[in-house]
Amino acid sequence: MSNPRPIRAIVALGSLTALLATAACSGSQPAAPASGGQQTASSANWDEKGPITYAQGKDTSGNVKGEIDEWNKAHPNEKVTFVELSDSADQQRADMVKRAQAKSGEFSVMSVDIVWTAEFAANGWLEQLPADKAPMDGMLKSAVDGATYFNKLYAYPSTSDGALLYYRKDLLDAAGIKEPPKTWDEMKQICDKVLPGQKGMSCYAGQHQKYEGLTCNIAEAVNSAGGEFITADGKPAVNTEAAIKGVDWMAGWIKDGTIPKEAVTWKEEESRTAFEGGRILFLRNWPYVYNKAVQSKLKGKFEVAPLPGLSGPGVSTLGGHNFGISTFTKNKGTALEFVKWMNSPENQKRRLQKASNAPTVEALYSDAELTKQFPYLPTLYESIKIAKPRPKAVRYSDVTLAIQDSTYAALQGQKDPKQAFDELQTKLESLTK
Ligand code: GLC
Repeated sequence: MSNPRPIRAIVALGSLTALLATAACSGSQPAAPASGGQQTASSANWDEKGPITYAQGKDTSGNVKGEIDEWNKAHPNEKVTFVELSDSADQQRADMVKRAQAKSGEFSVMSVDIVWTAEFAANGWLEQLPADKAPMDGMLKSAVDGATYFNKLYAYPSTSDGALLYYRKDLLDAAGIKEPPKTWDEMKQICDKVLPGQKGMSCYAGQHQKYEGLTCNIAEAVNSAGGEFITADGKPAVNTEAAIKGVDWMAGWIKDGTIPKEAVTWKEEESRTAFEGGRILFLRNWPYVYNKAVQSKLKGKFEVAPLPGLSGPGVSTLGGHNFGISTFTKNKGTALEFVKWMNSPENQKRRLQKASNAPTVEALYSDAELTKQFPYLPTLYESIKIAKPRPKAVRYSDVTLAIQDSTYAALQGQKDPKQAFDELQTKLESLTK
């Protein structure tokens, strides 16, 4: 352990291998995953069975409760108690971190956001999953990458997420518009045609509240303007001309009302209900919205398209969730069996059918029955395929806060977008040193 050099605290998902190679060559030590290694898979007792808990964000579809009832019927001595957390990504993280910091095993299995997984692994809060007990064959590569930290699997990829553009097909049809927009300008032009007849309807919204969803949305804006939020070798690049076009776009649309002013308080659910309530024509959101919208009064009236961008199709931020097993829980044997059962191809298929969650099992995207039921599945697959990961960083919570602070100041007109992003570049550079 002579003279360990700290690793850079921010790494684009795809470049982790390169970084690892550098670390290995230079003999430097990685930021100790599993705090000192005392909590690795080798110390876990995978034979211990008994009751456990499972914590995840709000069960918007109501499907998870049914799945757990099914498990409990088949496993009367290994019952799972469902702990339903908030619908806000930030609150979910806070609830999980609080338990982990107290070394509490109260949440045995956690649905950890893809973007928190590295941080949880680095802190030693998740058990490393043994490769022979959790094979990853046939899974989306990006989802497996998002559950892997320093070449070791710390969680089981459960759902992926790629952003989609939901739009009111009925209103576009009525205005004689055949195609959804491919660019932001086209979207605006469509709105200019359609909105005059629609009282109380604004053009577009995504998630513009100050929380993790804003990080996803602003990274998409920058990447869709031809910029690169984080370069392939893990460096921030938010002060480039292209990146500033992205933040200019979002701030400008809020200023002129193309995005309704109140959208600065919207997360996923608020923006979904605004769309379903006829208050916006176009919505950027995740796949889960499809299942809710087909059950709303919009059934048969909306469709799904790829995200538009500045001068061509846009680029989604990669989302998703992984099932992690708490280092501090009892009954890890049951936890691992439950995780595997919940995320089997059959259960992922069912979750797609009942909750329109994006699977991590790649073959499901070309399943004939599913493609018939969800005609947008190839669009989603494409969105996920080209989606850009957020930085995989031990200090991700500082990184994302910096992004949210600067972006929100620009959206609220408190800072000029260029100034906000110049400052952000400096902050991110210092966090990546
Ligand atoms: C979705 C994504 C997740 C992201 C969150 C932001 O749940 O799957 O990765 O962080 O939205 O609100």
